[in-house]
Amino acid sequence: MSFITINNIWQEYGDHVVLENLNLTVKEGEFCSMVGASGCGKSTFLRLLLGQESPSRGSITLDGNVLTAEPDSSRGVVFQHYSVFPHLSVLDNVAIGLELPQSPLFGRLFGAKKRAARERATQMLEKVGLGHALHKYPAQLSGGMQQRLAIAQAFIMQPRVLLLDEPFGALDPGIRKDMHALLLQLWGETRMTVFMVTHDLSEGFNLGTRLLVFDKVRLDPQAPNAYGARITYDIPLNETRLSALSGTAQDNVYALRG
Ligand SMILES: Nc1ncnc2c1ncn2[C@@H]1O[C@H](COP(=O)(O)OP(=O)(O)OP(=O)(O)O)[C@@H](O)[C@H]1O
Ligand SMILES: [Mg+2]
Repeated sequence: MSFITINNIWQEYGDHVVLENLNLTVKEGEFCSMVGASGCGKSTFLRLLLGQESPSRGSITLDGNVLTAEPDSSRGVVFQHYSVFPHLSVLDNVAIGLELPQSPLFGRLFGAKKRAARERATQMLEKVGLGHALHKYPAQLSGGMQQRLAIAQAFIMQPRVLLLDEPFGALDPGIRKDMHALLLQLWGETRMTVFMVTHDLSEGFNLGTRLLVFDKVRLDPQAPNAYGARITYDIPLNETRLSALSGTAQDNVYALRG
């Protein structure tokens, strides 16, 4: 059954048409990689999925319910430009995601619950290679380290839908590979549904179960903003490309296809 249904979505800002006539159905647990020219509306599409904006036309349903323009914890996001809390330490930046839902009034847990949250946050930070920087503040980190902190923040919440906007763009090739492995491991364990924008075509091919290409099919040189991008290709990625996945993740992929 379809988990997310994109039904004839248009997004316009004034007379600037950014997205036109997008239609898509996604099953729970799928991993959609998305590529397209700069400015064609990929981040806009993620904002619609996040519920940060409502489409000008059309609707998005998630699990049968029309998405309202209100983010909730079932959807997690890593933005294109890293966004972390500057006044919190690295450890607090990640632990707060676990603490807030459990203690919305105080925003902090105490005693054993607090220790458990911090332990989990520490483990996640070790996985993204920030185990040595737990007590630093974001301003003391490099751009790539801040990006990994943002990744840890999103991953620890294990959202049902994970939205990633070029999450690995700022990272060295070695660290990027580690992050790919971590993402695939988490995806395999949790069966979350992933939408990932990337400028790196090979990354898109290697990580997804599906590659969506955004492009304009209509172009008026006199009025470049008159037409928006559509999904011009929707490529199922074959099993050989998924060979890097862990057994569990692979089982999930096959289950999805079955
Ligand atoms: N709130 C807004 N108001 C007006 N125009 C907007 C708004 N948000 C996005 N746009 C325009 O929509 C277009 C698509 O932007 P978007 O950021 O979605 O592209 P993108 O595909 O993510 O590009 P990139 O690959 O460079 O990140 C751009 O021309 C942008 O200026
Ligand atoms: Mg973008």
